[in-house]
Amino acid sequence: MNSYDQLFIDGRWVAPVKGGAFQTINPSNETVIADVAAATAEDIDLAVKAARRAFDEGPWPRMSGAERGAILRKIGKGIRDRLDELATIEVRDNGKPLPEALWDLGDAAGCFEFYADLAEQLDANAEQPVKLADDRFSSVARKEPVGVAGAIIPWNFPMLMAAWKVAPALAAGCTMVLKPSELTPLTSLELADIASKAELPSGVLNVVPGLGPDAGAPLAEHPDIDKLAFTGSVPTGSRVMQAAARDIKNVSLELGGKSPFIVFDDSEIDTAVEWIMFGIFWNQGEVCSATSRVLVQRGLYDRLLARLEEETRKIAIGDGLTEGVLLGPIVSGGQYEKVLAAVERGKAEGARLVTGGARPAHLDSGYFMEPVVFADVPENSWIWREEIFGPVVCIRPFDDEAEAVRSANDSRFGLAAAVMSRDAARCERVAHALRAGIVWINCSQPTFTEAPWGGYKHSGIGRELGEWGLNNYLEIKQITRYDSDKPWGWYIK
Ligand code: NAI
Ligand code: MG
Repeated sequence: MNSYDQLFIDGRWVAPVKGGAFQTINPSNETVIADVAAATAEDIDLAVKAARRAFDEGPWPRMSGAERGAILRKIGKGIRDRLDELATIEVRDNGKPLPEALWDLGDAAGCFEFYADLAEQLDANAEQPVKLADDRFSSVARKEPVGVAGAIIPWNFPMLMAAWKVAPALAAGCTMVLKPSELTPLTSLELADIASKAELPSGVLNVVPGLGPDAGAPLAEHPDIDKLAFTGSVPTGSRVMQAAARDIKNVSLELGGKSPFIVFDDSEIDTAVEWIMFGIFWNQGEVCSATSRVLVQRGLYDRLLARLEEETRKIAIGDGLTEGVLLGPIVSGGQYEKVLAAVERGKAEGARLVTGGARPAHLDSGYFMEPVVFADVPENSWIWREEIFGPVVCIRPFDDEAEAVRSANDSRFGLAAAVMSRDAARCERVAHALRAGIVWINCSQPTFTEAPWGGYKHSGIGRELGEWGLNNYLEIKQITRYDSDKPWGWYIK
C-alpha cells in the first residue's frame, strides 16, 4: 500500500469522519513512518453497522464452510506472496528482528490456512446429536457464528495477533471490526488490502486503527457487537470486560503474565541458558507469555548465572533490519521509559544487576537497551511480581520442588510456565501443579496454531488457537424435535 491514511469499512477505503490522523514511529531511529487514519466513535459506528449488515443480510454466514475456507486460504496465500515485504513493514513499525518478523508472518499465513481447514470441517460437524433420556424427542447441538465480533489487539505481534482473531472469527462465519494498536497499525491495514483482494465480501472485515480511548473504547461499548476479543494489558482488559458487561457481550481476554521457569539442577547448563534466553529476550521480551521469573535450583545457580551473563552480553543489538541482530529496540518511547524505570526500581529493591540496562554505545538514537539479568530478586519486590514487558529477566534460587512450585504459583498471573529437568516424572508432576494455561517442559515459548492458548487468573478468560479458538466465535443452538405420534396430552386429554 502507498499510504495508510484511510480506514477500511464495508469493503472500501474511506477517510475518517473527523479527518484525524496519528503518526506511527520506527523505534529503531525514532522517525515517522506514516500518518495513519485515526478512527473515532463515528467511524466505529459505521464499521459496526457494516459488519452488522454483512452478518444479518450478507452471504458470509450463509456460505458453506468450504466456501469460507477457500477465501481464508486465499488470504493466507496473499500473506505468503508478500512475506518479505510485510515482514519488513513489521520490523519498521514494531522494531523486532527480521527473522522473527518472517516467522510471525509465516505463522499468520499458517493460522489462516489452519482455520480454513476447520471451516471446511464445520460443514460435516456443525451439528452434533444429543442423546436424550426421553426417546419421544430427538435433539442436536448446532454450532452457529456468534455474530459481529470486535477485536482489539496489541503491538507486540501485530499481524499475528490480528490473524489469531480474524481467522477463527471468519472461519466461524462471524463478521469483524478490528482495531489494531496505535503503535503498530500498518500490517492490519495491509491485511485489509489482502482480504479485499481475496474477494472477502464487503463488511465482513473492517479495519479501524485509532487510539485506545477514541477508537477502542467505542468499539468495546458498541451495543451492536455480539462478541469482544481483546489482547493487551490487565487494566485495559478489565475496562473492556466492564464495557462488555453492559450488553452481556461474549468476551475473551488474553492479558499479561509473569510466567515462571523452574530449572532443576540436573539440567544441562547450556540447554537451560538457551531456553531462558529465548524465554525472555525473544521479541525484546515484549511477549505476554515471556518466562520473566526464573527459579534455578541452588546446585546450578551460580554456574548458570555466570554462563547466562556471558551469553547475554553477546546478543547483537540494533535495527531489526540489520543482518545478525537478535534484539531490536523497545516498541515506543513510552514503553522504553517504563522498562528503564523498572530496571531502576529493581536496583532500588535490592535485586542484583548481573548485566545490562544501559544504552548500547554504538546506537545513539532509537529505543535500545542492553538486555538485563537480575539475580537474587526478592520475592516481594515489584520487579518479581509485575509485568515489565521488556528484555529483563528476574532470577531466584530454590532448594526443593515444593518450594519451586509454591513460588512459581505465588502470582496473580497464570498465562504460562516452564519446567526443565532430565527427570520426566518430575517435569510431569510440576506441570500438573503449575496454575497456568500453558506449560512448557524442557523449552519455553514455542507456540502452535493447533494447541490451546490462554491464561488462568488475571491472565485472561477463554482460549485462542486450535479448535478452542474457533469455539470462541461460535454459539451453540439446541434444536429439539418432538418425534412421537402420541399427543402431548397435558391440556387436551
Ligand atoms: P493496552 O492494553 O492499553 O493496549 C492494547 C490495545 O487496547 C490497543 O489496541 C489499545 O489501543 C487498546 N486500548 C487502550 N485503551 C483502551 C480502552 N479504554 N478501551 C478499549 N481499547 C483500548 O496496552 P499498551 O498501553 O499498548 O501497553 C501497556 C502494557 O500492557 C505493556 O507494558 C504490557 O505490560 C501490557 N501488554 C500486554 C500484552 C499482551 O500480549 N498480553 C500486549 C501489549 C501490552
Ligand atoms: Mg510503530
